[in-house]
Amino acid sequence: ALKRSLEGVHVAISAGGTREALDPVRFIGNRSSGKQGYALARVAAQRGARVTLVAGNTADLATPAGVDLVRVGSAVELRDAMHKVAADADVVVMAAAVADFRPVSLTGHKIKKTGGDPDPIALTKNPDILVELVSARRTGQLIVGFAAETGDETTSVLDYGRAKLRRKGCDLLVLNAVGDGKAFEQEDNAGWLLSPDGSETPIPHGPKTQVASAVWDAVTARLTESQ
Ligand code: PMT
Repeated sequence: ALKRSLEGVHVAISAGGTREALDPVRFIGNRSSGKQGYALARVAAQRGARVTLVAGNTADLATPAGVDLVRVGSAVELRDAMHKVAADADVVVMAAAVADFRPVSLTGHKIKKTGGDPDPIALTKNPDILVELVSARRTGQLIVGFAAETGDETTSVLDYGRAKLRRKGCDLLVLNAVGDGKAFEQEDNAGWLLSPDGSETPIPHGPKTQVASAVWDAVTARLTESQ
């Protein structure tokens, strides 16, 4: 039953990192390789889903068989692509690492050394795509967010994850502990699945395809419940 458990389901997945241009040759980016998002796409396709994968910057990854790939650069491009795809999707998964800020202005020419002190880079907020997708949610659509968190002296990774789930309003949050070389760019991952009903299921450490399987198991259980 598990094998084709996503038959007839259209899933939209974002993967990789956004790049926010400073000038024609420079950008602000992050270390997301897209491996977790691609693993989600591969497993969903194997389980029979129709998969649209919206990818920002990634490592050199092969497009999983049967998956439709849409390439984007910046957060604003990712947002436009996700809204388009989500309009027709049963499940939306935001695994991409989206820049929270972008440079206020994009210079049309390469920024030059002036000899003096450099100008500070002025930033402005990017839209929160996940929050937007939640407010635009179609009836019955399931929305999964990711969270990459580090704990600190006062707050644990889990507490940050719980707060983020409330703030974003998604149906499921995959919480990854990052820092110390974890999750980003790695072949393996681990974390928790948090849901608004308060349930917290640990995802054991393993290859990103195994983490992806745990996510799709949870999604499938919820899709079945709501039918
Ligand atoms: O790509 P890999 O190298 O395989 O690494 C995988 C990963 C660690 C990047 C991935 O598992 C992960 O955790 N992705 C989310 C990373 C993240 O930046 O989380 P966040 O806490 O900043 O954002 C929370 C959620 O809101 C995410 O679903 C994110 O896609 C979304 N978001 C964030 C900011 C923004 N402006 N718009 C968004 O939609």
